[in-house]
Amino acid sequence: MKSKIVVTGGLGFIGSHTVVELLQNNYEVVIIDNCSNSSEAVLDGIYNITGIQPVFEKLDLRQKEKVIDFFNRHNDVTGVIHFAASKAVGESVENPLLYYENNLNTLVYTLQALEHTAKANFIFSSSCTVYGEAEELPITENAPVKPAISPYGNTKQIGEEIIRDLAQVKPNFNAIALRYFNPIGAHQSAEIGELPIGVPLNLVPFITQTAAGLRDQLSVFGNDYPTPDGTCIRDYIHVVDLAKAHVVALERLLHKKNIQDFELFNLGTGVGNSVLEVIQSFEKVSDQKLNYKIAPRRSGDVISAYADTTLANDVLGWKTSYNLDEAIASAWKWEQKIRNKNTD
Ligand SMILES: NC(=O)c1ccc[n+]([C@@H]2O[C@H](COP(=O)([O-])OP(=O)(O)OC[C@H]3O[C@@H](n4cnc5c(N)ncnc54)[C@H](O)[C@@H]3O)[C@@H](O)[C@H]2O)c1
Repeated sequence: MKSKIVVTGGLGFIGSHTVVELLQNNYEVVIIDNCSNSSEAVLDGIYNITGIQPVFEKLDLRQKEKVIDFFNRHNDVTGVIHFAASKAVGESVENPLLYYENNLNTLVYTLQALEHTAKANFIFSSSCTVYGEAEELPITENAPVKPAISPYGNTKQIGEEIIRDLAQVKPNFNAIALRYFNPIGAHQSAEIGELPIGVPLNLVPFITQTAAGLRDQLSVFGNDYPTPDGTCIRDYIHVVDLAKAHVVALERLLHKKNIQDFELFNLGTGVGNSVLEVIQSFEKVSDQKLNYKIAPRRSGDVISAYADTTLANDVLGWKTSYNLDEAIASAWKWEQKIRNKNTD
């Protein structure tokens, strides 16, 4: 019998790629999403890749009674991968309560509803934002968690603490938090990818939208940072590599290989790339010049962040397989596909 996995936020960017990996690894998947930052059309992309139509329930996880009802009906789930959250840092500063309500209530209600299931293996989407400006690079999981600079970042820190507290007292509850660095790219089929609503907040979709003519120009915020070329450095990880890590983490719990009830892993490539290097990579793989300008520094930007991946490599047994050029090329292929679709 197939193991049944619930994926909250499974129509979103990382969730949809993870659903594909789960289906291709013979799991039964049930997606929960309220489509606040995604659309049901993503289901077609998943079907086109896998030939499987996953079960989808349109549900807002802030509705506690409905969440409990859902898990009562699916009390045979063996694992939950919890992606559902709002993720725009700037919006969280402007509207903190929206972020605390959405990111924390959805987590608490999902965990409460899990009480109604026999087994409770839980994977949580965390973020490298918990490290802030780390004192040492590359960043290990032992680096101190810094005071969050945004309500969004705070919800990730609090989320980890909620899960840690629960794991201490709840028998048979096992959880892994995955601290993502910077997910980019799209499935190689270009059937699914990132679909930013409005102006993209992340570098790569801004680059591809600029090249596609949707944005006039990219602003590079600051070129006077203490880095080799003066621009900020991040660890860009292909979303398919990231998605595969979720299957590996889930299987660690399903096969009871975890050493602690609550474990944490960084997910990155271990390589830091500057903003200018990302632009150069885009220009190389797309064979076109990008219109960009150097703008003043933006407040709140960390100078440099890239992962020490030793724990994920050695303990989780996972490593990345795509490099920056491949990830950028997949993002560009996806952007071209959605633009062509929109002009059909
Ligand atoms: N993309 C990144 O750069 C990044 C980095 C670190 C961590 N994360 C975390 O990873 C997770 C997934 O990120 P993503 O980039 O795929 O985001 P996304 O916005 O594409 O996906 C999140 C999905 O959750 C859904 N959702 C939001 N609130 C919901 C609710 N109340 N009920 C049901 N569904 C709800 C949205 O509709 C969306 O489909 C998030 O928790 C995010 O904070 C993302």
